[in-house]
Amino acid sequence: MHFQLSEEHLMIQKAARDFAQNQCLPGVIERDEKQIFPREQITQLAELGFMGMMVDPKYGGAGMDTISYVLAMEEISKVDASVSVCMSVNNSLVCWGLETYGTEEQKQQYLVPLAQGKKDGELYIGAFLLSEPEAGSDATSQSTTAEDKGDYYLLNGTKNWITNGSSASVYLVIAQTDVAKGSHGINAFIVEKNTPGITVGAKENKMGIRGSDTHSISFTDVKVPKANRIGEDGFGFKFAMKTLAGGRIGIASQALGIASGAYELALAYSKQRKAFGKEIMHHQAIQFKLADMATKVEAARLLCLKSAWEKDNHMDYTISGSMAKVYASEAAMWIATEAVQVHGGYGYVKEYHVERLMRDAKITQIYEGTSEIQRVVISRSILK
Ligand code: CAA
Repeated sequence: MHFQLSEEHLMIQKAARDFAQNQCLPGVIERDEKQIFPREQITQLAELGFMGMMVDPKYGGAGMDTISYVLAMEEISKVDASVSVCMSVNNSLVCWGLETYGTEEQKQQYLVPLAQGKKDGELYIGAFLLSEPEAGSDATSQSTTAEDKGDYYLLNGTKNWITNGSSASVYLVIAQTDVAKGSHGINAFIVEKNTPGITVGAKENKMGIRGSDTHSISFTDVKVPKANRIGEDGFGFKFAMKTLAGGRIGIASQALGIASGAYELALAYSKQRKAFGKEIMHHQAIQFKLADMATKVEAARLLCLKSAWEKDNHMDYTISGSMAKVYASEAAMWIATEAVQVHGGYGYVKEYHVERLMRDAKITQIYEGTSEIQRVVISRSILK
């Protein structure tokens, strides 16, 4: 066992860090305040190969490993979690799901442009539509229906809190075909956003990740060709669970980035701010906060990298991914809150970035499975 990153990993980490500092940092406060989707940044990320990082180059991807993905997610999330959630959903929920379970035709038609992040010179990204107004944690209680009509399915229902809701060109939609079969009656479909019958609701006015584009999406008699179903009939719930297992590594890495970003800001501030005749880093109250922050960041990073390593080595990463997500997201919330405290009054105003990181941290405890759901997954595995 060794804990050193390879030369290639260090290069990817540096590329992501430079991108975050040079392309994401300018304007991040304004994008947050005005809820501006970071289209330019996502387009540049696609040019870097970061929208399909782990996809095989034969399908337009960058062919990198999951460790690289964690490193890039951390660096970008330190600066702008609205950019990184878009990147995470496209990489781990949409591209991974299609590459792993799609047919060759589906991959050629959809995965190739999604992994490149563009089609005909335009931004081309995906969204993952599982949550509903009455089905969040209880994901098997799907009300969206997909009626089998022979050579097509007819979709009806509403999905909520969809990341990339209006900017995505392709939706992966989970819907109930046969309610009598419970989770085995659920299917997953590739649905093009411009299909007649789809309505994109108003953008949600959120506490954090305000640049990310979150909408409800409604389906009224939307015709989806049978060729767009992913996997065998009834595979949809397993598809969602398998896909989310990897997605949780992405969100854990996002939380890690928010945590390490907040820690680094608190550390830098403590070296310049003076109180009672000395820099505040010389006060034990601050030193102990910094020590706890550094320890939690390191623990979160190790959990993320371990889970990524398991995924790269074709091991089961479901539990380690849930552990990484619950730990990193709770660490992010705690560290960002303490970083505001270290900054005192300055921490409460926008220019110092930590209040945004604190607001952004909260969502990492909620989406892609709440902290409570991660504990369900972990406890089931240790108690079976
Ligand atoms: N891998 C493969 N199969 C799995 C699985 C996994 N990780 N987890 C469950 N399954 C299978 C089970 O084996 C079972 O199949 P069998 O009947 O063949 O045994 C079937 O799925 C049903 O599983 P459960 O009985 O365990 O189902 P449950 O109702 O108890 O719920 C749950 C399981 C883990 C709580 C699940 O509902 C869950 O993960 N909920 C959270 C949903 C979630 O994460 N939503 C995030 C929304 S997406 C998002 O946020 C994206 C974004 O935009 C940022």
